[in-house]
Amino acid sequence: VFLLSFTFLTGVPAFAEEPIVEDELRATAQSLFQPIPTAEEVIAARKVSKDQIQLGQWLFFEPRLSSSQIITCNTCHSVGTGGADNIPTSIGHGWQAGPRNSPTVLNAVFNVAQFWDGRADDLAAQAKGPVQASVEMNNTPGKVETALKSIPEYGELFRKAFPGQDEPVTFDNMARALEAFEVTLVTPNSRFDRFLKGESSLDAQEMAGLDLFINKGCVSCHGGQNIGGEGYFPFGVVEKPGGNILPAGDKGRFAVTETATDEYVFRAGPLRNIALTAPYFHSGQVWDLEQAVAIMGVSQLGEELNDTEVKAITAFLRTLTGEQPQVLYPTLPPSTQDTPRPIQ
Ligand code: HEM
Ligand code: HEM
Repeated sequence: VFLLSFTFLTGVPAFAEEPIVEDELRATAQSLFQPIPTAEEVIAARKVSKDQIQLGQWLFFEPRLSSSQIITCNTCHSVGTGGADNIPTSIGHGWQAGPRNSPTVLNAVFNVAQFWDGRADDLAAQAKGPVQASVEMNNTPGKVETALKSIPEYGELFRKAFPGQDEPVTFDNMARALEAFEVTLVTPNSRFDRFLKGESSLDAQEMAGLDLFINKGCVSCHGGQNIGGEGYFPFGVVEKPGGNILPAGDKGRFAVTETATDEYVFRAGPLRNIALTAPYFHSGQVWDLEQAVAIMGVSQLGEELNDTEVKAITAFLRTLTGEQPQVLYPTLPPSTQDTPRPIQ
């Protein structure tokens, strides 16, 4: 059995009379977190077809969903960079900066609801938002349908993906296909998941971090399969962070429910692949993961974590990076005479 004394690691005797026993830590972790399944497993469970996935993959990289015809889902959720755009708040149509940081699309299928404020119930409902948002793709359902119908190869693929429908090229089916593709964007076999399944160990600092993550109470908001993404909490439950990190104008879930207690309430961020998706928080103002951890300590737990604790928790968070999906960049069919021209 692998034994580790936190005292030995940190020189802080107050914390760890209790040495960390790997098997016990694993058993506790197994009661709080679940590993990410493989794409094949999620595809089977969600019953999405190969044709729907292929169509969704085209659409995810399809610039003609945007009125400028240069912005794709992948612009803000690049599957090559952790499913996000790695800038503070997303840049969309006409180089406008949106109000929020783009969350990763990786493992988004496991979140209880979509967006920082949970305003979309599922990925299909979500996908209709960015296409129409004036600061994102600035398009309309009608124009998207016109563009897709003008390209014969899309007609064919929509018919295969949604058999038996008279007119399958619809905005709704576009959203369903995007959802089907997003089902495949999962990241199994992170070092943490392999630890959880008993396939391998974590190092001493990572285990100390996991132990702190559980015992300090991070897990009360960041648990389950996605280590978050399951519930809503005030950002600043104990102490509100500064106005640059929690801008006064974005009241989070309040805009969805119009209930006073939902002011500045946000979905607890899913922490899978968190090392790949700086900058952090909905405002995207914090670039350093250690600083994000320290902020959470103060704002959510009312506790100044010391440097050793912050470093250990961060080391644990880095074990949450899974195998990234290998996505083939699609060769898209060309426009025709009937395809609307781009609008700048
Ligand atoms: C949120 C997918 C286009 C920026 C999301 C989420 C998903 C998603 C699944 C929710 C993730 C979560 O809550 O964990 C898509 C798809 C797109 C698309 C399928 C193409 C149809 C874009 C574009 C931009 C963008 C073009 C940037 C201009 C954002 C931002 C959020 C978000 C800022 C968070 C918004 C909020 O919480 O209010 N997207 N996205 N997305 N996406 Fe996209
Ligand atoms: C966001 C870590 C405790 C609720 C985050 C993020 C990190 C993090 C790294 C940023 C996610 C991202 O930008 O994608 C931690 C750690 C904790 C902890 C290490 C323990 C020290 C908690 C607790 C709660 C909570 C106890 C609930 C009371 C939230 C919420 C957000 C968040 C609501 C989203 C904030 C926003 O609007 O940007 N957490 N967290 N966290 N966490 Fe925690």
